[in-house]
Amino acid sequence: MDRQKLQIRLAAPRGFCAGVDRAIQIVEEALGKWGAPVYVRHEIVHNQHVVSRLESLGAVFVEELDECPPDRPVVFSAHGVPKAVPAEAERRNMVYVDATCPLVSKVHVEAERHHRAGKEIVLIGHAGHPEVIGTMGQLPDGAISLIETEEDAQTFEPKDPANTAFVTQTTLSVDDTASIVAILQDRFPGIATPHKEDICYATTNRQEAVKAMAKGCDLFLVIGAETSSNSKRLVEVALRAGAKDSRLVASAADVDWDWFGGVGTLGLTAGASAPEDLVQGLIAACRARFDIEVEHVTTAKETVTFKLPRVLAAEV
Ligand code: F3S
Repeated sequence: MDRQKLQIRLAAPRGFCAGVDRAIQIVEEALGKWGAPVYVRHEIVHNQHVVSRLESLGAVFVEELDECPPDRPVVFSAHGVPKAVPAEAERRNMVYVDATCPLVSKVHVEAERHHRAGKEIVLIGHAGHPEVIGTMGQLPDGAISLIETEEDAQTFEPKDPANTAFVTQTTLSVDDTASIVAILQDRFPGIATPHKEDICYATTNRQEAVKAMAKGCDLFLVIGAETSSNSKRLVEVALRAGAKDSRLVASAADVDWDWFGGVGTLGLTAGASAPEDLVQGLIAACRARFDIEVEHVTTAKETVTFKLPRVLAAEV
């Protein structure tokens, strides 16, 4: 019997961004420098496969600093941390390495700049996400108001409408954020905007690639974790851009092959914290079942890299 034909459109860029690459490297280098265990506050990046691999090397993941012994090094995750966290590590004389993505740190610096200028700050983002907790924690309570939706933007009442600024989470939907920003700018024409987009290059590029290829896909799979904001946005972008169905899967093991009934074209990408071997594993699982052809859809080339923190090179 002839096997079902499956055209796979594979997005590029996909998968690891420079901030995730750096964060993982930081944990590996910390283990090399100080030996195991190295503690990591929060999942270093939102991917269980990455976390499990680092655990096997001797990383211990915890949610709060008080779960770490003071005599072992601790790494802060790529999402960023409230200011109180490094302050507490210093108070306890701990060795710590901050793996906050430099593009998240850039947003922290912006928020501080607006605060110093006496502006009331709006953060566009998702409540409860560690990046939002980290950004809000750069400033005293009440200095930043969170806006999640267009409705929030319509009802937000600043103390002084003429003296406001906004910053955003780095992993939002580009289009949803543009609509929220448009409402804010309409209501508060003088609102200070970021110097350059806060949504990072990696989030933007992965969404652009999905937009370019989603139309005509019977199914679009995004490899990523439930906790990964940028991965969840890719599922939404695929549906809006014309994919008939779109789903988030952690890996090939998560796929229900009944989804493939009648599927001729599959779109495939991975969120910024999903390793490439999971993508290749899913393609291999498709190859085992279908007669596949892989088409590469490349919409941008990425060359961004970030330096590691100096503490890893210094004698500590
Ligand atoms: Fe940084 Fe963007 Fe990745 S903020 S961690 S480069 S998704």
